[in-house]
Amino acid sequence: MQLTWLGHACVLLAGSKKILIDPFIEGGSVLWTQPDLVVVTHGHEDHIGETVALAKKTIAVTEIARYLKAQGLPAEGMNIGGTMMVDGVSFTMTPAIHSSWIEEAGVSCSGGVAAGFIIGMDGVKVYHAGDTALFSDMKLISELYHPDVALLPIGGRYTMGTAEAMMAANFIGAKTVIPIHYNTWSKIRTDPMLFKKAIEQTTDLHVEVLQPGESIEIKNETKNCPNG
Ligand code: NI
Ligand code: MN
Repeated sequence: MQLTWLGHACVLLAGSKKILIDPFIEGGSVLWTQPDLVVVTHGHEDHIGETVALAKKTIAVTEIARYLKAQGLPAEGMNIGGTMMVDGVSFTMTPAIHSSWIEEAGVSCSGGVAAGFIIGMDGVKVYHAGDTALFSDMKLISELYHPDVALLPIGGRYTMGTAEAMMAANFIGAKTVIPIHYNTWSKIRTDPMLFKKAIEQTTDLHVEVLQPGESIEIKNETKNCPNG
């Protein structure tokens, strides 16, 4: 599976399906990616982004799925703790400690709860934490799902900062950690190289600091695990 960080929290997974997570980038568009499926972690505009314009089948919490369906768009609703297969890809919705709403034309409505996702495709599992604080049940995400890759927010202020994300990476145990949700704006400025150095000096985890638009190939690291 090829993983591309498009910027902010927006990630494209390309394997047997093309999956676009949180389709927003600052000052640009991700409509060109032409995904098969869209995943939205929560209703904030820097995550729901171009979901409506993409008009592809979207996986999201029930409230966001209802909002999309009300506009005639295809959506699959689910909720925290659940797993669902869509077009041969598995989606598990994990908790995220954060807020959520949907804003349209200056009016906001409930976006349900914020979430993260574990996406399983082609034998690889990717955990996108969404916007979240650190929480100790990330240990359960490790125990239950053994993600190969963890996409973690590190920008602080609205989410974990680097210190919390370091502990999150330890809890989750994914061999590859990719920082997201930083340096988009001055309020979430941080140095991903310090985060990388600190993790790699203290653990056997690997941190991939990607440039916006950069891709890496992800392989299954947990083949022998009975829980898959
Ligand atoms: Ni948010
Ligand atoms: Mn955000």
